[in-house]
Amino acid sequence: MDLEKLLKEMTVFEKAMQCTQLITCFYRGVKLEDNTANAIGPYTKLGLKQSDIYLAGSVNFLCDDTGAMLPATELERIQKSCIENSPHHIPTIFMQDIIHGYVTVYPIPLAMAASFNTDAMEECCAMAAKEASLNGVHLTIGPMVDLSREARWGRVCEGFGEDPCLGSAMARASIKGFQGDDLGKYRLATCVKHFCGYGAPEAGLDYNVVDISERTLKEYYLPNYKAAIDAGATTVMSAFNVFDGMPITGNEHVLKGILRDEWGFDGAVISDYAACLELLTHGVAKDEIEAALLSMNATCDVEMMTTLYAQNMEKFINEGKISMSQLDDACMRVLKLKEKLGLFENPYRDSDYERAKESFCCEEHREISRKAAEESIVLLKNDGILPLNKDVSSVAVIGPLAHYGRILGAWNCGGRESDAVTVYDGLCNYLGKDKVFTSRGCDIYYAGTDESEIPAAVELAKKCEVVVLCVGEDQDDSGESASKSNISLPDIQKKLFREICKANKNVVALLFNGRPMAIEDLDADARAVVDMWFPGTECGNAAANILFGETVPSGKLPMTFPRNVGQCPIYYNHYGTGRPREDDSRRCWCQSAYIDSPNAPLYPFGYGLSYTEFAYGKPYVDKTVLQSGGDDCITVRCELANTGKYDGKEVVQMYVRDMVGSVVRPVRELKGFKKVFVKRGEKVTVSFTIREEDLAFYNAKLEKRAEKGAFRVWVGGDSTCSEYVEIELV
Ligand code: GLC
Repeated sequence: MDLEKLLKEMTVFEKAMQCTQLITCFYRGVKLEDNTANAIGPYTKLGLKQSDIYLAGSVNFLCDDTGAMLPATELERIQKSCIENSPHHIPTIFMQDIIHGYVTVYPIPLAMAASFNTDAMEECCAMAAKEASLNGVHLTIGPMVDLSREARWGRVCEGFGEDPCLGSAMARASIKGFQGDDLGKYRLATCVKHFCGYGAPEAGLDYNVVDISERTLKEYYLPNYKAAIDAGATTVMSAFNVFDGMPITGNEHVLKGILRDEWGFDGAVISDYAACLELLTHGVAKDEIEAALLSMNATCDVEMMTTLYAQNMEKFINEGKISMSQLDDACMRVLKLKEKLGLFENPYRDSDYERAKESFCCEEHREISRKAAEESIVLLKNDGILPLNKDVSSVAVIGPLAHYGRILGAWNCGGRESDAVTVYDGLCNYLGKDKVFTSRGCDIYYAGTDESEIPAAVELAKKCEVVVLCVGEDQDDSGESASKSNISLPDIQKKLFREICKANKNVVALLFNGRPMAIEDLDADARAVVDMWFPGTECGNAAANILFGETVPSGKLPMTFPRNVGQCPIYYNHYGTGRPREDDSRRCWCQSAYIDSPNAPLYPFGYGLSYTEFAYGKPYVDKTVLQSGGDDCITVRCELANTGKYDGKEVVQMYVRDMVGSVVRPVRELKGFKKVFVKRGEKVTVSFTIREEDLAFYNAKLEKRAEKGAFRVWVGGDSTCSEYVEIELV
């Protein structure tokens, strides 16, 4: 397709409509008023004629009003109508938020980060891409790579946690999995989001003010996006939040200055839902004209579900407020995306509804999902009760998440609770129905106070050898618009837990959560605590395999778990202070210390237990001096011995500290990790490489430089590992 020629033939309105994204209800004759369940955004005020909708450059929300994914045949019908009813027969792009699975749901991204397994990440994304592309989807509005330190923010479930090294690795693997090498068969284009800094809302309140320094943005919050873009992410989504006083969608410094000029990104930028119009609500635009101009001048190419460009572009061009080349650039980035996807040659790509249906929750995909879940589950506590013995006489599966299909997680796209294997199902599959019993004990909801089901659960606990207690959040208590001021278990669940522990000492707690939770109660009284996150469709089978030792747990925490919400935000790679706390066990005057809580978290970043035991040797280096200015490197090695009774995997982590910098430096930073399998009784040597660029940071002038001097290098099994070796950059 000769895109330059096509562009020349298009009217201004056509170009502006290519820069407009609508949702499928417009094409399905579904009259959505503002008062319907789906009524989000200002679509009833879009001012479009019916004939205009066929000019829209892209279409989102590929679902019906129950949330079920539309069949490929319906998307084909819509595509055909767009091609036939538009003057230049330009195909549209079908986009969908595919965050952790399309119909076969795998663990939430925060759980995938806990796996520290980039191969599993890539495999899961490829699986989702195959299901979605067969069902007519062209682009996933993901991955979400917002780094966050805020357990109160519900959207931490969608991202990869608090660390840029782990987050960048997962971002790269996600892009590779969705896109493959060349957006070929069964692949999806991507839209990395939410650029940028969305994960740092004050007080953990979604959509709230983000007020961080440019250095903090560049040091911590940008690397994941940069990794995704360097891995070939095709488009970027502008976030709702402000940076440095300007909402990202209208922020020329961030979108044009950093993303395009500094990083050289030349793909389309798509606004978040109605984010262009929200510039008025932010109070940086007095009317829709100003909002549209701010967005266009910031190079936000596509507005999602508003028509500020469509309604005003001809006037902007005539009045010289927007140049034709600006509009052509924006429109061309959309057309080039369609060219990359091959839509001009084949507007339907891999669409094949019959094959799509065969792929949904097929055995192969279930196995991919289950293996990912087993890799992501984190063993937080175990006094030896786990793994359970297969000869166990009886197991009581108790709690609001014991036999509950809503363990898919937020943003589960086309996930179907009817496909989900609950914990009860999984244990029945493993042990047989005659040994497994269940009782809910209480409702899932925070406000719940109804204790009427607790006695029955207690009676069941008394009769069974072991209790698997399934507690935590509902899947909608994390995700978008799900911030919390209290990250403890609901009082009713704490009550149930206490009563069950009185009735049976053999309590294994399974936690279902989309965020770090303050679970000191579980940690104190359960014999074992297992973080399941939201594991997706194969939840129960993964739970059974972990509980009975078919799979030895190997997950590690991608976010720090606070003792209480008062510690939030709490994260491992924090700067030092002039008055660090000396002792968590007593009050420390004139030090950076709470008087009513330890400073230390309940569980640190990178923490996770196994059924076997791993012993780390002291790290050692091939040389202690790293020469700056060239491609010198130091190899760091460490022996890892499996001294326990089981074969197992361990996530070996390497942390570095710059002892003195021209600006304050973190007390330690993850600079590498390797997940290794070690047979029981054997040992391996794990090695990492350190180069000058690994030591670089943003100095007072915001130049990214390494500075000569001393560094400490730790290697261990979590962010509190203590054995280190010293090196020097000269
Ligand atoms: C939502 C989310 C964003 C999503 C978009 C389209 O508001 O912020 O993550 O991609 O709308 O569904």
